[in-house]
Amino acid sequence: MTIALNVAETHFRPASRIASVGVSTILEIGARAAAMKREGLPVIVLGAGEPDFDTPDNVKKAAKAAIERGETKYTPLDGTPELKSAIAEKFRRENSVDYALNEVTVATGAKQILFNAFMASIDPGDEVIIPTPFWTSYSDIVEICGGVPVLIPCDGAAGFRLMADQLEKAITPKTRWLLMNSPSNPSGAAYSEADYRPLLDVLLRHPHVWLMVDDMYEHIVYDGFEFVTPAAIEPRLKERILTVNGVSKAYAMTGWRIGYAGGPEPLIKAMAVIQSQATSCPSSIGQAAAVEALTGPQTFVGERRRSFQRRRDIVVSALNTIPGIACRTPQGAFYTFADCGGMIGRTAPNGKRIATDTAFADYLLETAHVAVVPGSAFGLSPYFRISYATGKTELREALRRIADACKMLS
Ligand SMILES: Cc1ncc(COP(=O)(O)O)c(C=O)c1O
Repeated sequence: MTIALNVAETHFRPASRIASVGVSTILEIGARAAAMKREGLPVIVLGAGEPDFDTPDNVKKAAKAAIERGETKYTPLDGTPELKSAIAEKFRRENSVDYALNEVTVATGAKQILFNAFMASIDPGDEVIIPTPFWTSYSDIVEICGGVPVLIPCDGAAGFRLMADQLEKAITPKTRWLLMNSPSNPSGAAYSEADYRPLLDVLLRHPHVWLMVDDMYEHIVYDGFEFVTPAAIEPRLKERILTVNGVSKAYAMTGWRIGYAGGPEPLIKAMAVIQSQATSCPSSIGQAAAVEALTGPQTFVGERRRSFQRRRDIVVSALNTIPGIACRTPQGAFYTFADCGGMIGRTAPNGKRIATDTAFADYLLETAHVAVVPGSAFGLSPYFRISYATGKTELREALRRIADACKMLS
């Protein structure tokens, strides 16, 4: 017997929860750059958000030893006791925050931590305040979880930092979370204790609003900046703070997929429910490697930070010599977020007008063969992000090409 199929029914129909969520612009640019490279073009990619350094040897050895010991099976749902202990100890040692083991959770990258947390806490229509520019995934994750991202522009003049009056105005009865990221991807702006204080005072007045802090770049800070996390600054808020972190950036372990968080037990438990039906547990080998990263020698973290600072200085000073581009000196992470407002309205040699930062990024890719990410991808224009997690020779060459391409705009 044949079954008559309605053609429309056989077509894939995406769920409404992803209707407004696109493929990451960063990944798209990366794919275009890769295709150009395959055609033989000398493309330099300054788009990727991962350290060019290798995972430290002691971490790799720990992973191999775990395999040899047979640690290749499922682990406890939200992290091995060894890794949870290492994380709790890290929070005490580096952040002066005490989390018990039942207040610690481990997931497949900090991205899954964010996902678990929003999935576990957001009902349709709940609002999440996100200072802008923001890491592109934040708003998409909130939307997939049924929430409403409330984007607050924090422009360069304010150091890309959220101000207390902006926060106060954005809070409504529907606000569930404020999501902070310091140092920030993409702006590199970081919040000192004095910067955080007025924001935390606002939150103290609004007990229904929780605070999620993404501390992923805590070790990549410059010029003696003292990293601090809100749960340490304001213990009265600790019961509604989720402190998110991971090993991806500090230990060059993006592919190992281990992220973690500390927070109040009821939230941590709810996040474990999501994880139990999504991934069961993070990778056993990745977790063994993360234990070594967090408990082993830390000297290379400082060495790499110094290396990133030298590259930051190269990029910032080169960008600021280009008429029409203005770049603030970031306090952390490995990105510059430069204002390209002076390029908007100019015309390329082929007659194309540079109308937006996206057009400017396209122009740099096509003409200079340098891949950067437009500010629009991070919710603030006209800017462009450079990731300087790239060797100095390549960086210098890329900046020379960017300067030449800018000169050709009239
Ligand atoms: C601010 C920020 N948070 C979280 C992540 C995700 O990290 P993970 O590799 O642990 O998922 C990234 C990655 O680019 C990031 O930039």
